Amino acid sequence: MQSYKKSKEACKEIYRPFFRLKICGKGVINMIKIKNLSKAYGDNLVLDNINLEIAEGEKLVIIGPSGSGKSTLIRCINRLEAPTKGEIFIADQLVTNKNKTEMAKKYTAMVFQQFNLYPHKTVLQNLTIAPIKLQGISKKDAEKSAMIYLERVGLANKANAYPQNLSGGQQQRVAIARALVTKQKIILFDEPTSALDPEMVQEVLDVMVELSKENITMICVTHEMGFARQVADRVIFMDDKRIVEEGTAEHFFTNPQNEITKLFLSKILH
Ligand SMILES: Nc1ncnc2c1ncn2[C@@H]1O[C@H](COP(=O)(O)OP(=O)(O)OP(=O)(O)O)[C@@H](O)[C@H]1O
Ligand SMILES: [Mg+2]
Repeated sequence: MQSYKKSKEACKEIYRPFFRLKICGKGVINMIKIKNLSKAYGDNLVLDNINLEIAEGEKLVIIGPSGSGKSTLIRCINRLEAPTKGEIFIADQLVTNKNKTEMAKKYTAMVFQQFNLYPHKTVLQNLTIAPIKLQGISKKDAEKSAMIYLERVGLANKANAYPQNLSGGQQQRVAIARALVTKQKIILFDEPTSALDPEMVQEVLDVMVELSKENITMICVTHEMGFARQVADRVIFMDDKRIVEEGTAEHFFTNPQNEITKLFLSKILH
């Protein structure tokens, strides 16, 4: 009886994110649907039959040990990697080899661990290149819009600086502004703070927390569990090519079920 009660409580905790999404008006539209996704590099299977639905505006955090497939999963969403098997739908449209570039351009932006800014371009040029070249926006309008986003990440005064003259935290905030300027509906973050000196982590997380108040669908690979607690509608834990547990950040703090999850959390939380 006791164990039945315990497992009922565990179930409630696991499904709570979906209730939360419904309550706050999210979860009505599936922004991303991943069906039976597998990815192999040669003989090396790195994602094994992943199924995942992400609602419009949802904030999803992905955690898990090195090599478990976190980066590969998010890189399949924007087709930086081609799935070996399975299907990905974005806004109900199947991503195919034919439309993949168009779909990525239309829906997704990515923030990388190593910022990936163009070193020979100024901050402002880094922000205007995609709107001008990919979206056909005039230079004047692109610069106006870029300045608004630089203001938002607190770096308007660095518009004419080059990346090498900025701190890591500042470069990552520029990279976030660059992701925002194209007004994509989905932003993928791949460990955006893990290359930063500890004192710069918070300034980047603060920008991400601000961003989480908008209806952008955010998928963040990060081990910053404080951030997850603050913004995540749902956290998924990956291990060895698969999603092995999901729930709220609270669930992972207080009631993780899987032994591997417990071991992993004991390492990152202490
Ligand atoms: N381009 C590639 N070619 C061959 N193997 C790859 C490639 N990219 C990733 N892999 C392999 O796929 C597996 C999953 O890698 P992935 O980068 O997705 O893991 P991860 O969970 O993001 O790890 P980390 O926390 O270290 O970033 C690893 O075994 C990795 O070596
Ligand atoms: Mg990775």
